[in-house]
Amino acid sequence: MTTIGFLACETTLPGSQNRREDAFEHDLMVEAITPAFARRGWTFKVIDWEAPMEAFADVDLVMIGSSWNYWDKVDAFLTKLEALAKTGITVCNSPEVARWNIRKTYLGELEQRGARTIPTLWLDALTADDAAAAMDQFGCDKLVVKRQIGAGAEGQEMLERGQVSDDWRYTHKAMVQPFLPAIAQSGELSFLFFGGVFSHCVQKLPKDGDYRIQSLYGGREVTHEPSAQEIAQAAAIIEALPFAPPLYARIDMLEGEDAKLMVMEAELIEPYLYPEQGPNMGESLAQAIAKELDL
Ligand SMILES: Nc1ncnc2c1ncn2[C@@H]1O[C@H](COP(=O)(O)OP(=O)(O)OP(=O)(O)O)[C@@H](O)[C@H]1O
Ligand SMILES: [Mg+2]
Repeated sequence: MTTIGFLACETTLPGSQNRREDAFEHDLMVEAITPAFARRGWTFKVIDWEAPMEAFADVDLVMIGSSWNYWDKVDAFLTKLEALAKTGITVCNSPEVARWNIRKTYLGELEQRGARTIPTLWLDALTADDAAAAMDQFGCDKLVVKRQIGAGAEGQEMLERGQVSDDWRYTHKAMVQPFLPAIAQSGELSFLFFGGVFSHCVQKLPKDGDYRIQSLYGGREVTHEPSAQEIAQAAAIIEALPFAPPLYARIDMLEGEDAKLMVMEAELIEPYLYPEQGPNMGESLAQAIAKELDL
């Protein structure tokens, strides 16, 4: 009997008192996965990642699903993944992959390994002068400043030349990028891979007047039928990872000025998997799990 666990959290589990507004995304993933696992006779368990170890007693493989509350308890989260792995459970993606992926400096490593990334400066903090110097260095008039550890565009700022007040400061460890205008036209493309095999692609667009594609800021998502060339560009990012293709990966890409895709993020911890735009998602995931467990 094979049991697959899906790590959720207090704010995504059904019946929670303080369920997140986007917890319906948890439900959509669970709905997409359930029939594919049932067809194979697997038991499917949705478990709070903070549940005691006993809750995982009969689990063979646990995947990180909708554990979207770990940002303020990163260490506890990684420690739990490691503890689960130590008991012999196959943890996907592995604690090592999660640790590697948590700080966006991994993008620098991907670049060194040949991936097309957005030009980025890594700074411990920024002043208005630093921002002006970055614009000069990139030869651009607009910058995006983001946290090295973060999600959901939190703490992110867009700066325009001549509009930054002298006393402006950014106090988090930062990554600084030229603003890529393609975000407003072609948006961001998310490519889903299971066990290194391409599954489906989603185009995410910001609402008029914004540049952030997150639904929180009015962004929207449509299915995108990628060209063979686009898939190859996303697959090249999977190949650039410093480990074997993980169970699941979401490669977020954006068009650069030469119309080629650049990686914005390689989401390997708890990405939303866009089941609505990938009707075969549950099956693709199940196939990758079967391979992982040698079933
Ligand atoms: N260099 C850039 N040029 C144009 N738009 C950008 C750039 N960097 C980020 N953005 C916009 O800001 C959004 C958030 O950026 P990013 O994905 O890097 O941060 P995040 O905080 O990890 O967000 P999430 O966790 O939702 O993916 C992007 O989805 C995109 O819409
Ligand atoms: Mg992103």
